[in-house]
Amino acid sequence: MILTVGNIKGGVGKSTLACNIAVALSFEGKGGGVLLIDGDKQGSAADFTQSRTEALGEAGFTCVRAQGKEVVNQVVTMRSKFAHIIIDAGGQDNPSLRAGLAVSDRVLVPVAPRSFETWALEGMAALIEEASITNPKLEAFAVLNLAFPRGSDNAQTQEIIREDYPGLRLIEPPVVQRKAFSDGAGQGLSVLELKPRNPGAIGELLGLLTGLGVKQNDMKVIYNDRTKKA
Ligand SMILES: Nc1ncnc2c1ncn2[C@@H]1O[C@H](COP(=O)(O)OP(=O)(O)OP(=O)(O)O)[C@@H](O)[C@H]1O
Ligand SMILES: [Mg+2]
Repeated sequence: MILTVGNIKGGVGKSTLACNIAVALSFEGKGGGVLLIDGDKQGSAADFTQSRTEALGEAGFTCVRAQGKEVVNQVVTMRSKFAHIIIDAGGQDNPSLRAGLAVSDRVLVPVAPRSFETWALEGMAALIEEASITNPKLEAFAVLNLAFPRGSDNAQTQEIIREDYPGLRLIEPPVVQRKAFSDGAGQGLSVLELKPRNPGAIGELLGLLTGLGVKQNDMKVIYNDRTKKA
């Protein structure tokens, strides 16, 4: 899979989800390797990988930094060498995001269930539609991230996505705002590895992977491996 995690809205969890997905896919039984492309000048995914390498000795995947056209070059050169390429495209409508959309087979749009974020979806959906003209294999997914643990806001936002953005396939369950995600990111760990284990966060990440089409068998390998070690 070549996956861009992108949204023109900042701070919705693109880097957090991209890093968690990269780690989870690096546990896949069938192997093949994961390339994480940090397309954001801020370098959050690269920082995560560095913390991870310092904490564990090795990240378990390869991370490179690339912007704009370099993202395309990286994908074209590396697609035969890795089973999965994950692109953290960074915030706003930037060249890395457009490059990612041009060469990916999937795009994941994290959406926070808050008004400004929902309004910004229109621009993101338009970008995806534009990219689909030259990249018709692009499949677009949305997931709620930083979701509320309770209340009706999540359901309302999901309803907006379903009704107003039929081009975005909504993945469930929502990824709730949980300390496990921010604590893990700070330590270079995915929520699959963080201790104490947070079953809610683990379930949401595995649900996200299923929604993206990662096979159940491979998921079991991920899940069992981590629970054995936990
Ligand atoms: N599900 C979550 N639960 C708790 N905290 C989260 C979650 N997702 C993201 N965060 C936190 O929210 C903040 C923004 O997340 P992140 O940096 O991943 O967003 P981003 O979309 O990559 O931002 P930017 O647009 O700046 O690149 C970070 O502090 C991160 O730790
Ligand atoms: Mg980011």
